[in-house]
Amino acid sequence: TDLDHIRNFSIVAHIDHGKSTLADRLIQSTNTVSEREMKAQLLDAMDIERERGITIKANTVRIEYRAKDGEVYVLNLIDTPGHVDFAYEVSRSMRAVEGSLLVVDSTQGVEAQTLANVYQAIDADHDIVPVLNKIDLPASEPERVKEQIEDVIGIDASDALLVSAKSGLGIEDTLEAIVARLPAPKGDRNAPLKAMLVDSWYDAYLGVVVLVRIMDGVLKKGDQIKMMQTGARYPVDRIGVFRPAMQTVDELGPGEIGFLTAQIKQVRDTKVGDTITTEKKGCETPLPGFKPSVPVVFCGLFPVDSAEFEDLRDAIEKLALNDASFSYEMETSAALGFGFRCGFLGLLHLEVIRDRIEREYDIELITTAPSVIYHVYMRDGTMVELHNPADMPDLTHVDHLEEPRIKATIMVPDEYLGDVLKLCQDRRGIQEDLTYAGARAMVVYDLPLNEVVFDFYDRLKSVTKGYASFDYQMMGYRQDNLVKMSILVNDEPVDALSIMVHRDRAEMRGRAMCEKLKDLIPRHMFKIPIQAAIGGKVIARETLAALRKDVTAKCYGGDATRKRKLLDKQKAGKKKMRQFGKVDIPQEAFISALKMD
Ligand code: GTP
Repeated sequence: TDLDHIRNFSIVAHIDHGKSTLADRLIQSTNTVSEREMKAQLLDAMDIERERGITIKANTVRIEYRAKDGEVYVLNLIDTPGHVDFAYEVSRSMRAVEGSLLVVDSTQGVEAQTLANVYQAIDADHDIVPVLNKIDLPASEPERVKEQIEDVIGIDASDALLVSAKSGLGIEDTLEAIVARLPAPKGDRNAPLKAMLVDSWYDAYLGVVVLVRIMDGVLKKGDQIKMMQTGARYPVDRIGVFRPAMQTVDELGPGEIGFLTAQIKQVRDTKVGDTITTEKKGCETPLPGFKPSVPVVFCGLFPVDSAEFEDLRDAIEKLALNDASFSYEMETSAALGFGFRCGFLGLLHLEVIRDRIEREYDIELITTAPSVIYHVYMRDGTMVELHNPADMPDLTHVDHLEEPRIKATIMVPDEYLGDVLKLCQDRRGIQEDLTYAGARAMVVYDLPLNEVVFDFYDRLKSVTKGYASFDYQMMGYRQDNLVKMSILVNDEPVDALSIMVHRDRAEMRGRAMCEKLKDLIPRHMFKIPIQAAIGGKVIARETLAALRKDVTAKCYGGDATRKRKLLDKQKAGKKKMRQFGKVDIPQEAFISALKMD
């Protein structure tokens, strides 16, 4: 296809504003698939998506549309993930297209998540077509929402399209607008091949599939390609496009988006943002902006039932096959036995992997406190990276510690600003900026990443009723007064509960954790001291009183079913417990004890 007849775009939207419904409509109304195939094919695509865990990866579809000018255009839609953990992946997808549809629910208006994504589109120099969706609903207020788009986002919304993705109203206009208002891609067919690796995943039949956007040159089956960042070389054995099912083609030219397979063994051999060229007569310079994705948050995953360790290994290996940004190595904990120390791009990423292991592989997990990578400077001048508080070297050898800091940008309606400032302050944040965009405040904070990885995002959502948007950038390391705090239950250290904290906050955190654990650990037949300590010094202490009577005693003997129920309940509760010395600690305690509220 010649460049003039190609349009590449993404859809930017807040959750539930109708992105998927609109995409389905665009596909359907261009007869990319017949009505009957539609169901089957889209379900297929959804299975893949489910397999790959929410919309983490890009999903792409190629649509052919005969416009009012009589010409047939190829429209490539790239779907993007919408979460800060994947900001880099989103930025690459955005660089692979020239324009965006900004879908806003006309009964709701611009919401927090729209902003972070639309700024990514603006950063990528996209032309943006605002689409007001759900105009079939009586509560629709297109005029108000147009104004809001102009106020808050600062783009012209006077030509916003009025659409009902549900009824199909305005779909034709949307397709016309894509052709008329979004620019055609640029590229030189005669130049050496230059393609961006936008995404990759593991397919059971095809092996590793790589999503590419051709910038210059032509990609053909049989080409010997080279990945410029990793230096790896492969013979291309298949190329194709998504309609939305995979369909092979002979070549992909400049401006086109499609896939290749090349007997690549693992997803981790492909790096999002890498430049693909031909081995011979390749291009000289790679595309700008490549960043290898490195895990920033680490935590231990242990099976509740230690007999499930091999199953857990199997699950983790399978998940890693399809997720290059997830890392793991075996770990042994005195308290928890065998497990894995895993690295993630961020908290959501951690939650997704953890949930999938529990849900899809049916393995109950104990997750230890998420931790960041500390730099420990030793007295002898060397530096070690600390991924796990349990590995903290002996203090007599340590000179000082540094922790990673981030620059966090939070946008929030004015009425919640006070709560947001308090939250950031509580997490050792330093305010750097405070400005207004319409009725929204934008605050910029310098924060320790450690204070953000645990429950910051949840807290932010809860104090702002979901109206805040949050985005962050890594800012490098800075020295601070950090210590390792251990928790002792019945005088035994539980290594999975040790955390790194700021010295000034250690007492407060220690007290809070002991109090929480006192509530979370069931009573035993004996008294249990729960302590927080730094080095050998106890800084907080609670005592869990001994259980006096048999639990069933309060059933007054008579009621047998109630008695049985109670015992069953106890048994079920047991399953989720781990024994530490003589004490049973419930699985949920490991996470709950660390929550700060
Ligand atoms: P996520 O996939 O969760 O990010 O949401 P989304 O943005 O893709 O939204 P989705 O397309 O799933 O739509 C959300 C809900 O809005 C669904 O229940 C749709 O049926 C409904 N919806 C979408 N478009 C319209 C519309 O034009 N009118 C009405 N009345 N409902 C719509």
